[in-house]
Amino acid sequence: MLVLLLDIISFLGRFHPILVHLPIGFIVLALLIEWRLNDKRYNGAITYSWFLSGLFAAIASVCGWFLANDGAYDNWTLFFHRWLGISIAIISFIGWWIRRNSSEQKSLKKITSISIIIAIIITGHLGGNMTHGSGYLLEYAPKTIQNIFGYDPSPIQYPTFTNPDSVNVYADILAPLFEDKCNSCHNDKVQNGGLNLASIEGIQEGGDGGPVVKGGDYTSELLRRVTLPTTSSKFMPTTGMPLTYHEIKILEWWISGGAKFEAQASDLELNESIQATLLARHRLDLTPKSWIEKTIVPNIDSSLLSALRTINWRVNLLAQNNGWIEVLAPRDSSVTSDMITKLPEAREQITWLELKNAGVTDDFMHIINSLDHLTRLQLQYNNITADGIEALTGLRHLESLNLIGNNIDDDVFPLLANFPGLKNIYLWQTDVSKEALENARQEYPDVNIVHAASL
Ligand code: HEC
Repeated sequence: MLVLLLDIISFLGRFHPILVHLPIGFIVLALLIEWRLNDKRYNGAITYSWFLSGLFAAIASVCGWFLANDGAYDNWTLFFHRWLGISIAIISFIGWWIRRNSSEQKSLKKITSISIIIAIIITGHLGGNMTHGSGYLLEYAPKTIQNIFGYDPSPIQYPTFTNPDSVNVYADILAPLFEDKCNSCHNDKVQNGGLNLASIEGIQEGGDGGPVVKGGDYTSELLRRVTLPTTSSKFMPTTGMPLTYHEIKILEWWISGGAKFEAQASDLELNESIQATLLARHRLDLTPKSWIEKTIVPNIDSSLLSALRTINWRVNLLAQNNGWIEVLAPRDSSVTSDMITKLPEAREQITWLELKNAGVTDDFMHIINSLDHLTRLQLQYNNITADGIEALTGLRHLESLNLIGNNIDDDVFPLLANFPGLKNIYLWQTDVSKEALENARQEYPDVNIVHAASL
C-alpha cells in the first residue's frame, strides 16, 4: 500500500516540468493585457489570469515538491528554486486579490507585476540548471554575454604534475574530483546517504550503508556507484557530470592500491592503462625511463664529428639537450678497420650503431666491445659468428642486438647472459635450432628472442 502511494507521488512529481509553464503563460497574458490594452473592460480577464497563475503555480509547487523528494539535486539550488516557486503562487494570489478588490491601486499592481517577473525568471533559470546543468543556458551564448555572466567555456583544466614523488593521489587528484562532482551533496553540512566525501574522516566513516572504500576491494560502494548504468537510481552523481573514464580509472587504481590517503603516485603499482590515464589527464609521465633517457652525456666535439663524417660514417644527433649520437655505416661500401678504430674516440656519445651489410667480421668485435654506451647494435647481414659475440663482454647497457643474416649458431645463447640489459635479439636467417631457441626463451624470460614464427 505504501509502495503504491509512493509510486503515485513519484508519478505526480513527473508532471512538474509541464505544469510550470502554465503560470508563466497566464502571467504573461495578464501583464500584456494590463499594459497594452488600457481598458476597464478587460479587468475581469486580467484578474482571472492572475488567479489561474496562482492556482497552477500552487499545483506545480506540490508536484515539484514530490519530484524533489524523488531525486537528488544540488541543495542550495533546490532550496532557492523551491521557495521562489512557492512565492510565485503567493504573489499571484496577492496580485489577483489586489486587482479583484480595487482597480485603482496602481503602485501595488506595479509591485506585484515586477516582483512576479523577477521571481519567474530566477526560478525558471534555477530549475533549468538543475535539469540541464548550470552551463546549459550560456553554452552557445555570444562570447561577450558569456563574459558578462562569468561563464568560462574552455574545457576543464586538470592540474599538471611533473614529479610523481610529490603527487598525493588522494589530496591532489581525488579530493578535487569529489569537490567538483560529489561534494555538493556529500559535505560537512549536507550528507546524502549519510556520506561526507569532503574529508578523510568522512570517507573513512562511510555512509548509511557502511564503509564506502575498503582497500583493494573492487566491490567498494564508492566505485560501484559511479560505474552503475547511468539510468540506475543508485548511480552517482545523481545530477551533474558523471565521472569520466580516466577519473574512474584513477579511483579504481587508488582503491586497489589500498585506498591509502597518504599514497604518492609513485607508491602505487603501475600498469600501462593507468600510466596512459595519468599522462592524458595530468601530463604525469610514469612510464619507466630507459637508461639513455636518464643519462646525460656531453655533446660530441665538433671536430671529432666532422672527422667521423669525413671517413664516411653517417652520424645523427639523437636529442637536443643530450649528446647521444647514432652512427651508421655508409650505404654503398663496407666499413674499413680505419673507420672502426676511430669509433672509440666517440665512445661516450655513441649509443646506437648500425653496421648493416657492411662486411663486418669477428675481428672488429673487440673494438666494438669498447663502445660501452651502446644500447642498440645492428649487425645484420655480415659474417659474424658466436665467437665474435663472445668478445662482447662489456656492453652492459645493450638493449637491442640484431644478428639477422649472420653465421650464428646455438652457441650464441649462453652468451646472452653477458648482456644484463638485453630486451630484444633478432635471429632470423641464422643457424640456430628450434630446440635451442625454445630453451633460450625459457632461460631468458625477459629477453624477446625474435625469430620467424615457426622454425
Ligand atoms: C545531487 C546530489 C548528489 C551528488 C552530486 C552525489 N550524490 Fe551520492 N548520494 C546522493 C543521495 C541522495 C544518496 C542517498 C541515496 C542513495 O543511496 O542512492 C547518495 C548516496 C551515495 C552513496 C551511498 C552511501 C551509503 O552508504 O548509502 C555513495 C557511495 C555516494 N552517494 C557516492 C557519490 C559519489 C562518489 C559522488 C560523486 C561522483 C556522488 N555521490 C555525488 C546524492 C548525490
